[in-house]
Amino acid sequence: MTVTFAEKLARMPGYQAGVPTGQAPEAIAAGGIAQLASNESPFPPHPQVVEAIAATAAAMNRYPDPDATLLRRRLAERFETDPSRIAVGNGSCEILLAAAEALCEPGDEILFAWPAFSMYPYLPALTGARETRVPLTGDDVHDLEAMAAEVTAATQLLLLCNPNNPTGTHIPAAEVAAFCARVPSHVTIVLDEAYVEFQTDDDPDASLDLLADFPNLVVLRTFSKCYGLAGLRVGYAIGSATFRAAVDAVRQPFSVNALAQAAGAEAILHQDDVLRRVESTVAERLRVEEGLRGIGLRTAETQANFSWIDLGDAEEGEVVAALAEREIAVRPGTPLGDPGHIRVSYGTASENDRFLRVLSEILD
Ligand SMILES: Cc1ncc(COP(=O)(O)O)c(C=O)c1O
Repeated sequence: MTVTFAEKLARMPGYQAGVPTGQAPEAIAAGGIAQLASNESPFPPHPQVVEAIAATAAAMNRYPDPDATLLRRRLAERFETDPSRIAVGNGSCEILLAAAEALCEPGDEILFAWPAFSMYPYLPALTGARETRVPLTGDDVHDLEAMAAEVTAATQLLLLCNPNNPTGTHIPAAEVAAFCARVPSHVTIVLDEAYVEFQTDDDPDASLDLLADFPNLVVLRTFSKCYGLAGLRVGYAIGSATFRAAVDAVRQPFSVNALAQAAGAEAILHQDDVLRRVESTVAERLRVEEGLRGIGLRTAETQANFSWIDLGDAEEGEVVAALAEREIAVRPGTPLGDPGHIRVSYGTASENDRFLRVLSEILD
């Protein structure tokens, strides 16, 4: 069946960036806007990462290493695996898109929970595969029972977002393992762990132990969040060598630019710094959650660098607009499939204080 250009365009969900458009990041910071809408790190990259980027900048007349050899080797050392099992991409978004493109045809199925990361609906829309969205439970967690029941012979790709964006809720590693054991091996399971470093209820690396038992499992991670490198666009996946080959076969050559490769290769060496950043963010998480409870608001049980706030009787659009008027950017819940909510990323301590103060005034 031929799909017209207009039909294809109509099924694309359209990405809504949390970042104000037309403004450079430094202008946003200098202008006093509290940018709490994109789950970024409020901390700049490690100074040695900035140095590595600057040192690489002088050789921009050359294309980057198409195989990202150094970056993949350092990742393999960090995760005690073979570089052949590591795929890299222009952000982990590129790996998600490439996985769908490599694995899915019209008639196949892509299964994910909802609400989850707003990019997921792109995957069926781009490939023509059918999508199955399984609602989160009343506690905002993945309904693994219902998801397992939705798997069919046509399911090619199953996405688990852990911790989940936008709710921050997390599936314990033991439950992920039990779920993987129930899913047939023809299904590629992508465990999207963009925020896993912020998880304190479980060992963030527990999922990596599952890779040996489940060859159809892929762990997806990013430098955009805890490493403070969202502006460079670099993510990675650890899975089978076949998955890596599939991603490489469809993504454009050189998609991870030389600056991003150098930054990632340096950043992964500074795990002590990652821990410090994570500790600061987790301390802010406790403070913000307590502050929200103090205002009488209910939140999902977050293990990430953001809170998912139930606004109760308050009108979501009015709250978002009132916050924007006071130069605080947050994510509204409606485009993410859950009206009456906002998602707020943790910024610096003073940004978080400002957010709590202004929100309390708005709701008063
Ligand atoms: C769950 C999840 N996965 C993946 C990504 C993509 O990250 P990036 O493409 O910056 O690596 C995000 C970004 O917000 C996310 O929330």
